[in-house]
Amino acid sequence: MANIVIVGTQWGDEGKGKIVDLLAEFADIVVRFQGGNNAGHTMVVNGETFISHLVPSGILQQKLCIIGNGVVVDPQVLLEEIDYLKSKGISVGPDNLMVCEKAHVIMPYHKKIDVSMENRKGACKIGTTGRGIGPCYDDKVSRRGIRFIELIDPDLLKEKLSYILDEKNFILEKYLSCEAMDSETILNEFSAYAERLAPFIKNISVIINNAIKDGKQVLFEGAQGTHLDIDHGTYPYVTSSNTVSGNACCGSGVGPKAITGIIGIVKAYTTRVGEGPFPTELFDETGDYIQKKGAEFGATTGRKRRCGWLDTVLLRNAARLNSLTGLAVTKLDVLGGVETLKICTGYEYNGKILKDVPAGIKVLAACKPVYEVLPGWKEDISEIRSLKDLPDATRSYLNKIEKLTDIPIDIISVGPGRNETIVLNNPFK
Ligand code: GDP
Ligand code: IMO
Ligand code: MG
Repeated sequence: MANIVIVGTQWGDEGKGKIVDLLAEFADIVVRFQGGNNAGHTMVVNGETFISHLVPSGILQQKLCIIGNGVVVDPQVLLEEIDYLKSKGISVGPDNLMVCEKAHVIMPYHKKIDVSMENRKGACKIGTTGRGIGPCYDDKVSRRGIRFIELIDPDLLKEKLSYILDEKNFILEKYLSCEAMDSETILNEFSAYAERLAPFIKNISVIINNAIKDGKQVLFEGAQGTHLDIDHGTYPYVTSSNTVSGNACCGSGVGPKAITGIIGIVKAYTTRVGEGPFPTELFDETGDYIQKKGAEFGATTGRKRRCGWLDTVLLRNAARLNSLTGLAVTKLDVLGGVETLKICTGYEYNGKILKDVPAGIKVLAACKPVYEVLPGWKEDISEIRSLKDLPDATRSYLNKIEKLTDIPIDIISVGPGRNETIVLNNPFK
């Protein structure tokens, strides 16, 4: 039996949604374990595109989808997503979608604080998605958050909200020059959400662990990417949760022994949304070509993604931090037509070569990438379904990635569609 974790190895948007949707065929349960609706995971099936922000990407394969305790959930967004999926003819209900009773709820003041804090920071902003993610995790750690178990208890919700709002309104009015929020209005709105969501709220640790004992297979779906991790990412230009594979356990209530494999999703080049250092970023026509051909716009905020060459310093970091057992390389088709390709193998800083990502943000911003140059390929590879049929230059590019990361490539993605894929080694088999 296999239980597999999927994580992003770069700065998010590596194509996790596509690979989770693909591998969900072989899983019984798909679990989101961190992040919230800052994520935007795209699945393309039979030419139709689906974007999910909260519901695990196993829903199209009609697997049991679980939102773990580590996720922060905006109930309004979740309900909208359920309605959206239903409108597309996908069955979603308490029998195939569950939310952990311990997951924290994103409240309206979280969103307002997120956006207003960013505005106040001006040039020092992080470039958040504005979805209230950071402020919600803030409250979780400060022990004044509201969990789903409290959301569905009207008396407790009222009691908690009254003292929480006391503090939030002080911050909103005095520090952020915003209008105060009214507890009655929030209570009315959120009791309606609670009523609709109550049937979905469960003790998911028990459900997942019992399923594993019964021989069921679980796919853990990471959001964001390793370098947006709150501990290991390019702090402070990160998200507010641990995005690395270890958090699949904490964020869903299973022990580490349950995990049998960890697949790192690697975009064949690098992208980043929001602020923060990006050593291999391109500011020339090649960057524009990749951005346009790869349709690199954020699936959540629609922002243009910054694009650059593949960076194996990041990938080696991700391999170590996540204990990667395999890679899935995505968007390889996008590189077709680029005459020569560059892969970053190290950073030059103050006359020295760094092989690891420095923790100091100013140091990282001053690093100059050291590149290996490889020939590109002109062919359209999106119709190719076997490794041997790929152009020689494409195979050399893949070999180089394996060599520089020391991790085998299990999956190659040559287009957004579920079937536009070459599976070399299925982690569930
Ligand atoms: P995620 O957040 O990691 O799930 O990734 P996103 O969905 O935000 O961004 C990945 C984008 O690339 C989506 O628009 C996908 O449909 C698309 N995509 C995924 N794999 C491939 C691929 O192999 N080739 C191409 N051209 N597009 C892909
Ligand atoms: P998926 O799961 C790319 C980035 C934001 C910002 C930083 C902090 O689709 O890969 P936050 O709103 O989390 O406080 O923003 O993190 N970010 C993402 N970038 N993909 C994502 O998710 C992201 N989720 C957050 O752009 O730089
Ligand atoms: Mg995304």
